[in-house]
Amino acid sequence: MIEKNRVAAPGSPDRALLDALDLARLPRHVAVIMDGNGRWAKQRHLPRVEGHRAGAAAVRDTVETAARLGLDALTLYAFSTENWKRPQAEVSTLFTLLKEYLRREFRTLAENDIRFRVMGRTDGLDATVRSALDLALEATASCHGMVFSVALNYSGRAEIADAARRLAREAAEGRLDPESIDEEAVARRLYTADLPDPDLLIRTSGEMRISNFLLWQIAYAEIHVTPVLWPDFRCRHFLEALVDYQRRERRYGGVSASDAPAPGAPPAPAALEA
Ligand code: IPE
Ligand code: IPE
Ligand code: MG
Repeated sequence: MIEKNRVAAPGSPDRALLDALDLARLPRHVAVIMDGNGRWAKQRHLPRVEGHRAGAAAVRDTVETAARLGLDALTLYAFSTENWKRPQAEVSTLFTLLKEYLRREFRTLAENDIRFRVMGRTDGLDATVRSALDLALEATASCHGMVFSVALNYSGRAEIADAARRLAREAAEGRLDPESIDEEAVARRLYTADLPDPDLLIRTSGEMRISNFLLWQIAYAEIHVTPVLWPDFRCRHFLEALVDYQRRERRYGGVSASDAPAPGAPPAPAALEA
């Protein structure tokens, strides 16, 4: 049971949104493309890195809201393999901010039973970044609440290519029958092997693209794009995304429940069977 008062105070605008939510139909896994830090800074005539600095508050708020709602998993896209193309000073500030975030927050994560994880090629990261990640990974290793993953040096295509390479190696070594390879076999070799696929993908700052994020896993995710820039993203925006998600009808290629034949209805005409 979630304690509503811990998510939003009674009488607050956030509470009205929370009351509009069906708590029994929350997504299990929410993934977020945190975008718009640079534009947020530009609007204020500040250097881009100030947008990244301000984005930390949005991360804190989002993790807290997701955990209090009792979601199984939250995945935040923090740095793509393509983001190395940015100016070196911006990249290095991004990683400094990440290290500061981890060193400041790892105890709070553990206290709230949140299990921290990283998705991506961490071996390509600086040793000081890896040790800050290890701090949070070790502190939360025995937590059993929400799984909070950060996608770092992440590429959806590379993740699928890595899974393909593992399958090929196992087959070449005689440990796997190539004929047995199915979707499940691929899924088990992704970073998300033990997580449900994201039900909801949120992107901030209005861009209508995926930018190489969780390509396999979002096959049937509902997508919510908000114009809000990441540093401004707060609990109410998260709740708005969840309300929007609950308005969607997830058909998975089928038909609407109202278009499905009623139980006991006569069979459909045989015209297509010929
Ligand atoms: C998202 O904000 C942060 C990262 C990709 C690391 P951006 O830095 O992409 O902000 P915009 O898109 O330039 O506004
Ligand atoms: C996606 O944002 C990557 C992250 C949020 C880490 P970008 O700002 O890098 O994406 P593009 O360049 O607009 O597609
Ligand atoms: Mg961007």
